Amino acid sequence: MSIKYDKSYTYDIEKVRKDFPILQTEVYGNKLVYFDNGATTQKPRCVVSKIEKNYFNTNANVHRGVHFLSQQATEEHEAAREVVRSFINARHTHEIIFTRGTTESINLVASSFGKTFLQPGDEVIVSQMEHHSNIVPWQLQSGVKLKVIPFDEKGALVLDKLDELINEKTKIIAVTHISNTLGTVNPIKKIAEIAHRHNLPVLVDGAQGAAHEIINVQELDVDFYAFSGHKVYGPTGIGVLYGKEEWLEKLQPYQGGGDMIDRVTFEKTTFAPLPFKFEAGTPDYIGSTALAAAIKYVKSIGMDKIVNHERNLTEYAYKKLSAVKGIHFYGTTGGKSSVISFNIVGIHPYDVGTLLDKLGIAVRTGHHCAQPVMQTFGVEGMVRASFALYNTFEEIDQLADALHRIVSIFHKK
Ligand code: ALA
Repeated sequence: MSIKYDKSYTYDIEKVRKDFPILQTEVYGNKLVYFDNGATTQKPRCVVSKIEKNYFNTNANVHRGVHFLSQQATEEHEAAREVVRSFINARHTHEIIFTRGTTESINLVASSFGKTFLQPGDEVIVSQMEHHSNIVPWQLQSGVKLKVIPFDEKGALVLDKLDELINEKTKIIAVTHISNTLGTVNPIKKIAEIAHRHNLPVLVDGAQGAAHEIINVQELDVDFYAFSGHKVYGPTGIGVLYGKEEWLEKLQPYQGGGDMIDRVTFEKTTFAPLPFKFEAGTPDYIGSTALAAAIKYVKSIGMDKIVNHERNLTEYAYKKLSAVKGIHFYGTTGGKSSVISFNIVGIHPYDVGTLLDKLGIAVRTGHHCAQPVMQTFGVEGMVRASFALYNTFEEIDQLADALHRIVSIFHKK
């Protein structure tokens, strides 16, 4: 990815902010500063109007009707699949499976891959910075053991250890693209190269990756890539699993029901071709088309400009927040994504979060669904500010000022 980290390579942020009505919200008399984008992003008007438009104009169940509305809804839903394919540069549209989100995408692979390829005693390699959703689905596969790629004091994966972890029991490597706590952008292409040298597939948790990087699954050469619509300015309840055709063909269905079958008798059922084999039941065709609207929206701004802006914000935030007395950052690798996690000596992260909220600033506090990361640093939780395309440098100034205020209040006590 060739991104220039350059302040002048940007877009009209004030104009963009007008597309997000929620950013005008007042919180305890202050204008909202929304820095909880790692948890979910806000939605532009075009996404919300797409949902309304579809319910009012083209709502009908897809793939099932010969009638006009059903045909229209089907066309839109399948066009959305093509928009997603192009967003991540998959080779084929049938390699795009719609799911409820990253979590369901990973559970799908763990369960379907597990049924076919995992035996008790087999090993799955994950990393020490995984979100629970890329740990627990693997633990649910009976008798499977997790091996863990560690990270160093800056939060970079110690890839030298990967070769040592691989043995004849290893069946798959499942890693996050961007850590939701440390902001580390992992060298996925390199991990895929190592995995493929050992004939192992790679699954990538792209929950943060899809929103903050330009994704090219062919270039990364990953076998599975999972992400959620709601973190890329789309609606909740829709997500994506990309899988290489050859892998998806080998996996058994995840759930059974309508739409995923070819022929059903009481003796035997045959399954529909890809992608439908993995999409049992009525799909979220409203969500898929709204996700497509979100993707078109970010593309209209330019993903490269968004990444550039967010990296500049992150760099600026580091500089500004470094001056806060007693601040300690977690995850300090170079080129990290738009996540800043920290604690302030002597102040509980929930207190920091609650006081920031009173000043109108929304951050995430707690373990961020990554308890092993907290255990590594020996903390109960952290405060996390995560940035998105509509955040501004002035908002970071407000965060820095607010933290100085909080520190001074605690020091007076
Ligand atoms: N995974 C989301 C986060 O990091 C919820 O906040």
